[in-house]
Amino acid sequence: MASNNSKNRMDLIVALAKRRGFVMPTSEIYGGIGSSYDYGPLGVEMKRKLADLWWREMVRRHENIVGIDSAIIYHPRTWEASGHVDGFVDPLVDCRQCKSRFKEDDLLEHAARAKGLSAPPLKEEGHKLDPDHPEYANLPCPVCGNRGTLTAPRFFNLMFKTFIGPVEEAASTVFLRPETAQGIYTDYPQVLNSTRLRPPFGIAQIGKAFRNEITPGNFIFRTREFEQMEMQYFVKPGDEDEAMEYWKAERMRFWSEVAGVRTENLRFHQHTPEELAHYAKSAFDIEYNFPFGWAEFEGIHNRTDYDLRRHAEFSGREKDLTYFDDQTRERYMPYIVETSAGLNRALLAILLDAYDEDDVEGNTRVVLRLNHRVAPFTAAVLPLMKKDGLPEIALQLFERLKREFNVFYDDSGNIGRRYRRQDEAGTPFCFTIDHQTLEDGTVTIRDRDTLDQPQRPKLEQVVNLLRDRMYE
Ligand code: GAP
Repeated sequence: MASNNSKNRMDLIVALAKRRGFVMPTSEIYGGIGSSYDYGPLGVEMKRKLADLWWREMVRRHENIVGIDSAIIYHPRTWEASGHVDGFVDPLVDCRQCKSRFKEDDLLEHAARAKGLSAPPLKEEGHKLDPDHPEYANLPCPVCGNRGTLTAPRFFNLMFKTFIGPVEEAASTVFLRPETAQGIYTDYPQVLNSTRLRPPFGIAQIGKAFRNEITPGNFIFRTREFEQMEMQYFVKPGDEDEAMEYWKAERMRFWSEVAGVRTENLRFHQHTPEELAHYAKSAFDIEYNFPFGWAEFEGIHNRTDYDLRRHAEFSGREKDLTYFDDQTRERYMPYIVETSAGLNRALLAILLDAYDEDDVEGNTRVVLRLNHRVAPFTAAVLPLMKKDGLPEIALQLFERLKREFNVFYDDSGNIGRRYRRQDEAGTPFCFTIDHQTLEDGTVTIRDRDTLDQPQRPKLEQVVNLLRDRMYE
């Protein structure tokens, strides 16, 4: 098996994803558009299953959590209130000589590592380059190595701007949302009015988010367009620490026990004060051990009452954004604990985690050991041969199973090769209709992971068998 930390593992996944139609480059006939990907027939099934699993766990299994699906373009004041217009920026530095562009953070890292430089020339109060510092002029460009060629850092907002209406004037400038969370905050009074929720309660949504990332990369890890699965949990002030602990445990349990990610590849990382986003008082990332190092794919944040207070101020609707407890006669601004996962990034972690290469009688078998809940196909139905009435029985079983599950039917070619194709797609079960089926009405089940064929259930038992596995 390829080591989880080898770069090679990422290349293997990228190649498999393209070959088998999980994930492929966008607009490939035009040469692609750089760090933008489409989900093919297998990828889209897997992505939907993961999103559905999240929805089932978060919304359906918690009677105090409801879902919404808000528009992508919000009122532009939303982003002034949220702090994204001023705060969601990345400082960039250009080299006048070679025209390369760097994120300030990357330049700092390079400077710290550069020989002869004791420490990066930081501003006293934080990790920002100070162009007036004498050492700044002497910083070498990381690409061409020239000194004195770097421009002062310029701020670059990560939000995509667009226009409503035909005229490109400031009045109609809007943004594609960089997080789905704000739609929940601004909808919260309407959700309260239409339900009988009382804190603690949650509002969840899954949807696209957009960030004009300066350094997208690592396949679908960082892209400019991605999907988030976010849940905002509204609690009475003072209850937020307990809610943080609850959601940290729940979200970690989800990835390991429900989605099937190996626990040794998961860990928490607590944000240092420098790492905290402008809205957060405390934050924990759930990190995965990617081939390029440990990195976040979900964040659990204590956002305090920051967002609601800001929306109250900017909208002038303070009263609507508070909660009135008619039992205690108290009115308060709820605190918010957020769970925010990246659907695409989680999918990458799951693919990497599942990839395996086995040696089967001297041949390499590529297998995705995907959890059955997220595998694109739950099962494949394969007649051993295309004769003797086997395809007819197989098709009957296929018709029955596909009412409930995503199942693949394949009657072409050598059975060994058909199994291999299902292994690469991560299909947990193959049901093979063979000559014994004609005799006693039983089928072979082939287990993807062990290659065992332990039992021969009756044809009519197959549906229940899959149901038991899927909804356990
Ligand atoms: N509402 C809080 C929030 O958006 P975040 O840590 O910026 O927090 C949450 O993002 C998650 O969204 C990340 O853990 C990651 O999985 C995903 N994400 C963020 N930027 C991304 C990008 N450029 N490409 C893919 N996923 C991204």
